[in-house]
Amino acid sequence: MILITGGAGFIGGNFVHHWFERQRASSEPVVVFDKLTYAGNPVTIQKHLDSGLASLVHADIADRDAVRQALVQYRPRAILHFAAESHVDRSIHGPGEFIHTNMVGTFCLLEETRAYWSQLAEVDKAAFRFLHVSTDEVYGSLSDTDPAFSETTAYAPNSPYSASKAGSDHLVRAYHHTYGFPTLTTNCSNNYGPYHFPEKLIPLMILNALEGKPLPVYGDGLNVRDWLYVRDHCEAICQVLEKGRLGETYNVGGKNEVKNIDVVTTICRKLDALRPRAAGRYEDLITYVKDRPGHDRRYAIDPSKIEREIGWRPAETFTSGIDKTVQWFLDNDAWIDSVRSGAYRDWLNTNYQGRVA
Ligand code: NAD
Ligand code: TYD
Repeated sequence: MILITGGAGFIGGNFVHHWFERQRASSEPVVVFDKLTYAGNPVTIQKHLDSGLASLVHADIADRDAVRQALVQYRPRAILHFAAESHVDRSIHGPGEFIHTNMVGTFCLLEETRAYWSQLAEVDKAAFRFLHVSTDEVYGSLSDTDPAFSETTAYAPNSPYSASKAGSDHLVRAYHHTYGFPTLTTNCSNNYGPYHFPEKLIPLMILNALEGKPLPVYGDGLNVRDWLYVRDHCEAICQVLEKGRLGETYNVGGKNEVKNIDVVTTICRKLDALRPRAAGRYEDLITYVKDRPGHDRRYAIDPSKIEREIGWRPAETFTSGIDKTVQWFLDNDAWIDSVRSGAYRDWLNTNYQGRVA
């Protein structure tokens, strides 16, 4: 079986669905190891928990005893490490949790997994993999004319989030270099799709629009992100797990650079068609607000290494992926209700109340 940290979160949860759909008949079980923070929701993977093919360990990756116990109990052949604090704005308001989970937690997971791996039989040891899921934000910010990030672009993280992810990437690299620990790292661009927590741009805009609330665009709205449909990312991870070269990093992206304002207007037009407002067009709700401090201008991924070495290519375009995403949010009220707790409303006050239009 494989152990998935953060498997109740957005990408980890989609990965669990992808894993079982991809395997069809021969279903290798998974164990999800998750602290269930505000961003973790077991409802996302309930169907697989109910089927018995997925198990859930509710614990912190920084709790070494809990990690050790899970490794002894489940004896995974691979660790897929998704668990992280993942939202840039939250890292600006409170960086401590990011250092705890992304750096200390990754260290604890690496130490316990290395101890587990080192006592495996030779054949299991050779087959074992630790796949670290990371972000393109470790490379910093591009100007409009800079070439896209490649695997050799120098790290220059700008937010507490990206700095803590960069720290975790360096630890993973060092464990391969020093101990021969069998690591793989992926650095992916911005994901979007089903089960996306509505603090991030795309789900926040869809849900605010449906409620007739302002659509808060930071700064001039011209920042660029390179969007990838989440299932394309999940498939890339499966393929890197199968075919990746040990110790290597792979950049994952869909060559879909879009300005924030264009993302928001695309969502508005989609909603105009699917669920027209009585009170006018959704674009009327767009509100420019105070910029994010240290806001990275542009991210872009050069995916040529993963295309060439692994043969991965995304299946979705930005248009087809946004269509699926908007439709999913229209169809899944129960999931949306399950994540919008009082804590979520507190976050909206913390992040948006001080931003003068
Ligand atoms: P998310 O915030 O939606 O989910 C994170 C999950 O990790 C949650 O289930 C949470 O409960 C769990 N978690 C947090 N702290 C934990 C801890 N200490 N111990 C155990 N579990 C813990 O994040 P996501 O968007 O699904 O991102 C998953 C991974 O992918 C992260 O490592 C992130 O850096 C990376 N990534 C995300 C994106 C993106 O666009 N969302 C892009 C590239 C890479
Ligand atoms: P986000 O989804 O938080 O991802 P990241 O910061 O990791 O790229 O934000 C995507 C872009 O959207 C980013 O440039 C910030 C911008 N943004 C807004 O303009 N308004 C918002 O309310 C949010 C959450 C993000």
